[in-house]
Amino acid sequence: MMRMVDLIAKKRDGGALTKEEIAFFIDGYTTGDIPDYQVSSMMMAIFFQDMTEDERANLTMAMVKSGDEIDLSAIEGIKVDKHSTGGVGDTTTLVLAPLVAALDVPVAKMSGRGLGHTGGTIDKLEAVSGFHTEITETEFAEIVNRDKVAVIGQSGNLTPADKKLYALRDVTATVNSIPLIASSIMSKKIAAGADAIVLDVKTGSGAFMKTEEASVELAQAMVSIGNNVGRKTMAVISSMSEPLGYAIGNALEIKEAVETLRGEGPADLTRLCMELGAQMVVAGGKAETLEAAREKLQAVIDNGQALEKFKVFLSNQGGDASVADDVSKLPQSDYLFEVRAETSGYIEEIAAEEIGVASAMLGAGRQTKDDAIDLAVGLMLKKKTGDHVAEGETIAVIHSNREDVGDVERKILDNYTIGNNRVEIDLVKQHITE
Ligand code: URA
Ligand code: CA
Repeated sequence: MMRMVDLIAKKRDGGALTKEEIAFFIDGYTTGDIPDYQVSSMMMAIFFQDMTEDERANLTMAMVKSGDEIDLSAIEGIKVDKHSTGGVGDTTTLVLAPLVAALDVPVAKMSGRGLGHTGGTIDKLEAVSGFHTEITETEFAEIVNRDKVAVIGQSGNLTPADKKLYALRDVTATVNSIPLIASSIMSKKIAAGADAIVLDVKTGSGAFMKTEEASVELAQAMVSIGNNVGRKTMAVISSMSEPLGYAIGNALEIKEAVETLRGEGPADLTRLCMELGAQMVVAGGKAETLEAAREKLQAVIDNGQALEKFKVFLSNQGGDASVADDVSKLPQSDYLFEVRAETSGYIEEIAAEEIGVASAMLGAGRQTKDDAIDLAVGLMLKKKTGDHVAEGETIAVIHSNREDVGDVERKILDNYTIGNNRVEIDLVKQHITE
């Protein structure tokens, strides 16, 4: 008979667990037969001893098998999903869904509300009057087959083993382990039914992984898991040393997405969408090379098909598509406040995480899952890293529904570093394809 204590000892001493051994402890933990203290000991052993490629793939699939798996087989074509390891003001999903769908890559997105500095993708889309994600699975498949893009709310009991493990790791100092993070993220994407997965692994001060080296290691671990279990997986390593684009907030990000789909978006957001989009188009089998994919993406931005696809996407799900022609129809805040630089110089750094917190202080995000969210509020950055400012010049505009925003203004000023160095951010650092 298999005993958990023997598996812990094997891993503690540097051994590799078999597929059956991994399935034993993941199944036992999910059902409650194996207690927290033994699994936390196993997590610590993995933290120090690492896992082989086979172990990582087996751990991922054991977590996938712990719950429901979404079946997207009613949808034609290679379903490509994108995942970002988290950033501030990350508007890429809103841009990429219609952008790659315009090239016939099916985007069958299951999305959640989530916690954070702004809402999740569904919250942002709900800033468009009438838009909803309460569609049946049949409607979902029909819409994607016809128009290539739809978003449905999360359903089913996906990866319960990951939920339990993540909570346990959080309180046992074992979150920060490459095999554990990689298997956790990949199990959720695989259970959600993607055939191919494009990962945006953030690096820098505002990211989970602070150094490029660690980010590359995480990306390689996830790409290798995906490819080892039959899901084509690629990654981009991108900088999160300042917020992405100018907008942080729900309606504000819809407006930014519209501008980007029109070819008039912020340079950094546009660039990242082109790189991730190119990988999605290649993974979806609609171009041979990243170079060819970029050209196709540029063409649908230039000829208006990307923006047109966004309108079709919104109206298919009840949304008022005319916001794409007139963004003033989006929710507006009652007050605008300009935040002015206290000194002159170059913007050397914008602490992404803290700027996200400033936006959350206005009510743009939620801390617990039952919090209400204010879709109209947020921040518009006017200056980014490398820009020059004069004392008194506006660096950001606060969109608020409360009259006193002194605390938010202070937070923004404290997290913009102004100095003599003209820093240049290298946004897209690497493509990882194996
Ligand atoms: N995000 C996840 O989903 N899992 C981890 O383990 C870490 C970050
Ligand atoms: Ca943004």
